[in-house]
Amino acid sequence: MKGHELLTTRKAIENRRSIRKYKADTIPDETIMALLESARLAPSGCNAQPWRFKIVKDYATKKQLQAIAYDQSFLTEAPVVLVICADVQGYLDGRTSGVQDLGKIGVFNSNICEILNKKTKSKSQMSIENLSLSVAFNVAIAIEHIVLRALDFGLGTCWMRLMDEKAVRKIFGWNENIYPVALLPIGYPGESPAPRKRMPLSDLLIV
Ligand SMILES: Cc1cc2nc3c(=O)[nH]c(=O)nc-3n(C[C@H](O)[C@H](O)[C@H](O)COP(=O)(O)O)c2cc1C
Repeated sequence: MKGHELLTTRKAIENRRSIRKYKADTIPDETIMALLESARLAPSGCNAQPWRFKIVKDYATKKQLQAIAYDQSFLTEAPVVLVICADVQGYLDGRTSGVQDLGKIGVFNSNICEILNKKTKSKSQMSIENLSLSVAFNVAIAIEHIVLRALDFGLGTCWMRLMDEKAVRKIFGWNENIYPVALLPIGYPGESPAPRKRMPLSDLLIV
């Protein structure tokens, strides 16, 4: 969709809504790549960059995803669904090299680097479920980059976490090392919802 107004970050944050109705219009591949580029630039602990993306466009696979996402049918309506995952082993490897990089720029001295790398090794002893969740919060940042950048193209998205992660792995033949963090339908909005209720800031301050 050409000529869409570029938003300030503030406007993007204020205008974003979860969109659950989509037009059938297809999304250009370069737009999808621009969205993934914004995810690629996200921050992560020790710069481990554990996010991985599966782009789904075909109806049959979307239907399979709908079935393992409590039959949330708007997912199939969206022209593109991203299955956004955490690569658990990639995280452990990336963390080790990230600690070394931070050592090189003087954030940590070599003793601390060793301690942190030992910590990473001990993490690899954690259960895959616990480790997956701790990797997932890094991935969540990348997902929100996509969600906000989508607005620059007039696109709507909806975070979807109500799904059976094991069943997602089964659909794609992935092993436990890949942890599906969220499904993200993307499309031109077929609705413009009013802002949803938020708690006042005064209730959010811990005093
Ligand atoms: C981690 C996460 C998981 C979510 N999972 C779902 C989901 O499975 N299905 C759905 O319809 N919405 C889901 N949502 C969207 C929320 O319901 C929505 O963000 C919230 O109601 C506020 O509305 P808004 O996004 O329009 O401001 C999810 C949002 C987040 C951040």
